Amino acid sequence: MARSILGISAFYHDSAACLVQEGRIIAAAQEERFKKHDPSFPRQAADYCLREGGISAGDLDLVAFYEKPFLKFDRILHSYLAYAPAGLRSFLMAIPLWIRERIWMKELIKKELRYEGKIIFPEHHESHAASAFFPSPFPEAAFLTVDGVGEWATTSFGVGRGNRIEMRGELKFPHSLGLLYSAFTYFTGFRVNSGEYKLMGLAPYGEPKHVDTILRELIDLKEDGSFRLNMKYFNYGVGLTMTSARFEDLFGGPPRQPESRLTQREMDLARSIQLVTEEILFRMARHVRQDTGLRNLCLAGGVALNCVANGRILREGLFENLWIQPAAGDAGGALGAALLGWHQYLDQARHVSGNKDSQRGSYLGPSFSQEEIRRFLEGQGAPFKELTEEEVPEQVADLIQAGKVIGWFQGRMEFGPRALGARSILGDARSPQMQEQMNLKIKFRESFRPFAPSVLRERASEYFEIDAESPYMLLVAPVAKAKRRELSAEEQKRFGIEKLLTIRSTIPQSQAARVERRGTEAFRDREVADHSLDYPGGNACGLFGAHPDRARGRSAGLLPDD
Ligand SMILES: [Fe+2]
Repeated sequence: MARSILGISAFYHDSAACLVQEGRIIAAAQEERFKKHDPSFPRQAADYCLREGGISAGDLDLVAFYEKPFLKFDRILHSYLAYAPAGLRSFLMAIPLWIRERIWMKELIKKELRYEGKIIFPEHHESHAASAFFPSPFPEAAFLTVDGVGEWATTSFGVGRGNRIEMRGELKFPHSLGLLYSAFTYFTGFRVNSGEYKLMGLAPYGEPKHVDTILRELIDLKEDGSFRLNMKYFNYGVGLTMTSARFEDLFGGPPRQPESRLTQREMDLARSIQLVTEEILFRMARHVRQDTGLRNLCLAGGVALNCVANGRILREGLFENLWIQPAAGDAGGALGAALLGWHQYLDQARHVSGNKDSQRGSYLGPSFSQEEIRRFLEGQGAPFKELTEEEVPEQVADLIQAGKVIGWFQGRMEFGPRALGARSILGDARSPQMQEQMNLKIKFRESFRPFAPSVLRERASEYFEIDAESPYMLLVAPVAKAKRRELSAEEQKRFGIEKLLTIRSTIPQSQAARVERRGTEAFRDREVADHSLDYPGGNACGLFGAHPDRARGRSAGLLPDD
């Protein structure tokens, strides 16, 4: 019987499970895909993974939990002691939960899974590092993991070689790039832990007015990317908010109320913290390059979802190759912990096959058969028509060209926050109205939020300033110069959200894009595109080159999910 390891990450906003059998990633899913943003034990995700592997919990050889609960509790206690008596309210809210269940994690896991075997607890950043390096295509690589906080570490770097990862350095709580970015997410009125993506999307409409203030007041940044935050401005140590009254004084008043109107202040703050984040990550990456001497870099941790910053690391040319874990946030910790169990704990060899990663396109979640879909539609009384595999791309191409918006559902669900063509919404990138139409009418979300273009790998450089694969929507590249439009004097003067209305390249939203490397003729002939934001400043959040695991001829175009 295949040796099986279940990875678990739990008790934060998106818990997850992952099954690895004989070193191969069999299944991975976030609990919230079954039950929205559920912080509890990933019961349904774990059951799904076991089902996919054709086993029950009793057949597992090992369970790997993504962090060390005792060490995390130690950090929380230390923080409260350091700030006492401040933070008493937050202390009284947090501690009973810890005493009741979290520090007894081993017993809890055994009970939840009905499992009696061995459980390992790697450190939080070890799990991130393992999720970055082990599925990567590299036999040897440097890794950099950056997030809010795990136990104590908030950033770590080191070397992955063969079936081992080795830590070489770390930054510790409360000095955290993830929490700094989340503080601005909170202050601009978005939800911490899930609104960071919106803050990044808002950045192009602002001016970098506050960069100097941030670097002078909030953060003491060193050449090697290490830093200390001035904790007088932050409240997350023990408080119930992210920022303090001093932070408000510095940036002109209280935080924006969620859902209230966005103003130029938020856009300027978004742009400023984005640039600071990019600078910090760039310095960190440069230090990692110097320290390890390696030419491949793997990234994970929530901050690695900042695809604009990743694009800059790639363009700076510090590393020859970059691989980013698609589930870079804590959900990916389940996957990292399981792989760490296989390679490091069970000491099993790692086989790397040239330039192909072992993430399997990140299509690691549940799928539904034609029969199940048919039964569902009939049960709902929904009108539907069945098409052959050959008819689908042709018809979808026609509909996209006619300005329609397509809901695209195929195969296994993506693992990670981006929709990569298995659960996506498609539209025509050439239509100037498409972005607003989709954001406001379809998804009821803010009009500024970008979509990602998809484009054939061999034609990516024609449309974007990039010559690398980006199958997981984790890199942003500028639109190619030849495709950009000369802006009129009036257009150049546009300010803030008005920039959204400016057509900046020869094809309005970005460039016509196609997905399949072996694309069907229907897509080839028409340059049917999905939609993307023509990023003011010439960027587009991009996804280039279909993953070979994608079903042939069935993709049209891709959008990031909420
Ligand atoms: Fe993390």
